[in-house]
Order: sequence, then C-alpha cells, then structure tokens
Amino acid sequence: ALFSDRINSAGINLHMSCMREPFLAALEAWSNNEWQAGAVINGVTQLDTSSRPVNCPAQPQELVGQVHDADRNLTELAIAAAHAGFANWHKTPIEHRAVALEKLADLLEQHSDELIALCVREAGKTLQDSIDEVREAVDFCRYYAQQGRALFAKPQLMPGPTGESNTLSLEGRGVFACISPWNFPLAIFLGQISAALVAGNTVVAKPAEQTSLIAHRTVALMLEAGFPNEVIQLVPGPGAEVGQTLSEDERIAGVCFTGSTATAKRINLALANRAGAIVPLIAETGGQNAMIVDSTALPEQVAKDAVQSAFASAGQRCSALRVLYVQDDIAERVIELLQGAMAELRVGLPASYASDLGPVIDSAAQQKLLAHIEHISEHGKLLYQTPLPSKQSGYFVPPSLIEIDGIKQLTEEQFGPILHLVRYKASQLEQVIADINSTGFGLTLGIHSRNEGLAQRIAKQVRVGNVYINRNQIGAMVGVQPFGGQGLSGTGPKAGGPHYLQRFVTERTVTNNL
Ligand code: SER
Repeated sequence: ALFSDRINSAGINLHMSCMREPFLAALEAWSNNEWQAGAVINGVTQLDTSSRPVNCPAQPQELVGQVHDADRNLTELAIAAAHAGFANWHKTPIEHRAVALEKLADLLEQHSDELIALCVREAGKTLQDSIDEVREAVDFCRYYAQQGRALFAKPQLMPGPTGESNTLSLEGRGVFACISPWNFPLAIFLGQISAALVAGNTVVAKPAEQTSLIAHRTVALMLEAGFPNEVIQLVPGPGAEVGQTLSEDERIAGVCFTGSTATAKRINLALANRAGAIVPLIAETGGQNAMIVDSTALPEQVAKDAVQSAFASAGQRCSALRVLYVQDDIAERVIELLQGAMAELRVGLPASYASDLGPVIDSAAQQKLLAHIEHISEHGKLLYQTPLPSKQSGYFVPPSLIEIDGIKQLTEEQFGPILHLVRYKASQLEQVIADINSTGFGLTLGIHSRNEGLAQRIAKQVRVGNVYINRNQIGAMVGVQPFGGQGLSGTGPKAGGPHYLQRFVTERTVTNNL
C-alpha cells in the first residue's frame, strides 16, 4: 500500500517559541547530569572493570559520565547469556515481541529530554539533530513492529499440487551481534537491535566507544519496556577486543554492522575464518557521495541543498555530500551562493539553539579532517571556510569548500564538514558518471536539473542505493525512503525498508504428507 496507517513520530518544532522554550527548560535539568555505563549481562550492569571518563566533544573539559568497558571475558559471558535466552525468545509469539517494541517507542518519547541531552552532550549533536535522532529511533521501533507482525504472525501457505501441505516460515537465526556507530548513537544502535529482536533473535550489542552512555540508557529502557533480561546484552568497549571476540565466536549467528568499509571487511574475514556455521553479515558502510548539477538547475536551490547535505551534522552522516559536480556555465553563480550560505552558518555549542553545526566527534577525527583540508587545498583551491567561534576548546572543524579536479583525487571518505567542488563541461557528463562509479562506493547521489529526462538517465547510470533529485540528499525517513548502499557502501538490505527484517531470519519449509 502506498499509504500506511503508521505515522512517523512528530518531534518538536524548534522554530516555534511555544514549543522551544518549554523544551529548552526541560533540557536544562540534564545539563550537569553525569551518567554511568557498563556491560549489561542478564539485566545486571557490570561495574567491576576499570572506568574511563566521557567528555563532551564541544567542551572536552565537561564530564558527561563514566564507562566501565567490557573485556573479552564479559563479552563471552554476554554471548553465553544471549545464547541461552534464544530458545525461549524464539518461541515467543510475534505479538509479544512487537508489543515490547511499541512500548519501547513510547518510553523513548517519554524520556526524550534525557535522550536528547545525551545526544547533545555525549555525541556533540545539535538540538535539531538530537530531536531527529530520537524520532528516528521511535520510528524504527514502530515500523519494525508493524513489519514483524505482517511477516512472522503465521507461516505462508505454499501450493500443494501433490496433495501434501507446504508451509514456509521465517524464524530467528540465533544470537545477532549488533555493532553500531557513534554518528547515530540511538537511531542506528536501536534500528539494528529492534530488527534483530522482532525477527526472533537475541542480541549482543556493541555500541561505538564514543557513545556508550546513551547505549546503556537505551538498554535500561528496553528492559523497562518488557524485553526479557536474557534477550539483550550490552558490551561497550574497544573494537579490537569486544568486536573481535564477537566476530570470532561460533555462537554468533549473524552480524549487523554499521561503520567503516575497512572494519566491515575485517568482520567478514573473521566470520569466514571462524569455526561453525556460515553466517550473514549485514553491513552499512561509507560513501563518497556526489551531487551532479547541470546548467538547467536553480542555483539558489542547489546552494541550499548542497550546504545542508554537506554540513548538517557537521558532515558526519554516511549519506553526506562530499563532491559537488557543477556544470561550468553556472559554476561561478553556484560558488557565490555557496559562499554566501556558508557565511551564514553558525558553528557553535550544540546545546545552543543558534548553532547550525556542532563539533566533530573527537580529537582524532578533528586532526584527520584538518590535515585533509590542508593537504587537498595544496592540490586544489580553498574557496571558502566558515569561521569558527572564538575561544572554544571543542573539536570543531570549519565547514570548508574546496575546488578540485575530480572525485579520483580523493583517496578515502572524509567524515566531516568538507565539500569538494568540481566543474565539468556538458561534454564531460559521461566521464563524470564513470568517475563517480569508479570509486566503488554506492550510497547517495544528488541530482539537480530541470531536465527530467537527463535527471532520470543519470539516476539510472550512477550505481548508488539512494538517489535524490532536486532536493538535499540526507535524512532518509523510516518507512518512506528505505536507506542503504551497494558496493563498498554495504551489503543491503535497506534500513527502514520493507525487506530489512527478512535478512535477520532463516527460512524453513515444512512439507506434510499426513
Ligand atoms: N540515514 C541517514 C541519512 O539518511 C544516514 O546517515 O542521512
């Protein structure tokens, strides 16, 4: 059906002072809070390992909480707990699993102030991004609950031409390892877990080290929502120890991973080399996303959409625009408008309503991005840089616009607020398309053109998972724009789409000649 009876969560409209003021007042209550996180095994938080402080990326002197990381031993205990819990959860009716997810969605909404405060203070996300993050997590829960009911309520009856009855059912595989990134510390963390659980698997979740506090708080809400203690185990900690233990353990029946392409390949290799069954890896990885703008495009619209696609969330979205191809006839005008729009961007503390962009996640990310700006500017031309706030200690990177010769000059994804611009002539369009495809990544593509036929042709030729025509290329909506890439950008299926849950199950046919 084109229209579903499920509506996505409403959020808070920050532009309306009647909504903004009470929201900011409620958030204030969390502005000095310190959270604590640790592994959660069978419902019990493990605080015996040594702890590390978590600081706010916007103000590194500000303490947000303490994390007690899991080690190899705790990770193995978590796997054992989830493994033991599978037998019961697998038999739990889908209605029960779906209701728990819906209850969780309600709890996320009820606790949205705290979760937003965590997104702001632990991940450095702006208020708007943090509001959107909670909404997306809520939407994933409700969407997968709805999909789960449709898919798993009863076996599908197959034809019986020989007089036998045949049924096909979808069943949980076992223990899923869900390994999630810091850039969507609630939405992707929970999107993976909710899909795995509603499909009848139990889960061991490893959040990104940078965002363990929000993961821990979310697991506490899951237990409150009625998920049994044994079905969700949390193991915060370093990838080299916790992630590796998960990939090598033969009790893991599938891995759902979002992060870098290199890590996805390492997990794939570990899964191939370990003992036991051949199991699936669902990976959503990076991109080298382009936008192609031809001379029929509206320059004002291009500038607005390119700035949003490249700099929202400080460029820390896998969907973000990295390379803007502009046909030479309108390039000067587009550059002028981009510079104007970038001059209006406010980089600042994420807790401030006035900030359009916050910091990047940590010092290592900041240093890498600054080094790239310096290096690529030597080979290209720095066209504009938005000024940073004075007297700040956070991990800020100035939004930067740099003209280069082509996408091939970029050897890796730069996960931050850096937009590269390339001019092309109409006669070079085929080469532009070939160059974009030659990166091997295939996540998002933006097209700006008023020539519908040309836009459709480009959309068909560039091999990416999500194409956006005459708009920005970020912020896929759950159940509306199923999201995910191909090639170096991931294995599929698309998150928030109708084929996602099927990859978390095994299929079973029963032929009955009674
Ligand atoms: N789902 C996010 C987006 O569409 C991915 O990073 O922007």
